[in-house]
Amino acid sequence: MALVSDHLSDIKTLREQARAHIDRGPITEAYGADRDRVIAVLNEALATELVCVLRYKRHYFMAEGINSGPVAAEFLQHATEEQGHADSIAARIVQLQGEPDFNPSTLVERSHAEYVPGKDLVDMIREDLVAERVAIASYSEISEWLGESDITTRRLMESILAVEEEHADDLLTFLKQMGVRLL
Ligand SMILES: [Fe+2]
Ligand SMILES: [Fe+2]
Repeated sequence: MALVSDHLSDIKTLREQARAHIDRGPITEAYGADRDRVIAVLNEALATELVCVLRYKRHYFMAEGINSGPVAAEFLQHATEEQGHADSIAARIVQLQGEPDFNPSTLVERSHAEYVPGKDLVDMIREDLVAERVAIASYSEISEWLGESDITTRRLMESILAVEEEHADDLLTFLKQMGVRLL
């Protein structure tokens, strides 16, 4: 029976490989993913987060005007959290020796979620819920795709996914409280 340790690199090989490619920073021989593809996918997630920041900001300021109480505060909190996600994703892209794409002229095409201004408060909440559901589906797929090949990126996307699920739940709660017909 093969021991688990048979599959591990010996200390000498680990040390030699670590020394030979210091120009790659954190990327070692053990990195199992297609790095260019991961960076491309992360840039799509970055665009998604940035579009979500803009949409939530718009909704926050518009909702403020229509006396929306706790909904506006929630929009602002979501905007702040999406900005945090964008920053974490950009930082990971740089760790992977890639470049985060903040180009505003192509943001909407690259984003998975849409930018919908929203006509009224209910419409804004509904559109935000749709966008969250897009992000949830997309980040679930990304996490599954990464699997064991890039554990750090997978964990990052899983932690963001958990927050998007909270966001979706917050929004659904508002719609229910307001007595909105959902379908
Ligand atoms: Fe987010
Ligand atoms: Fe979100």
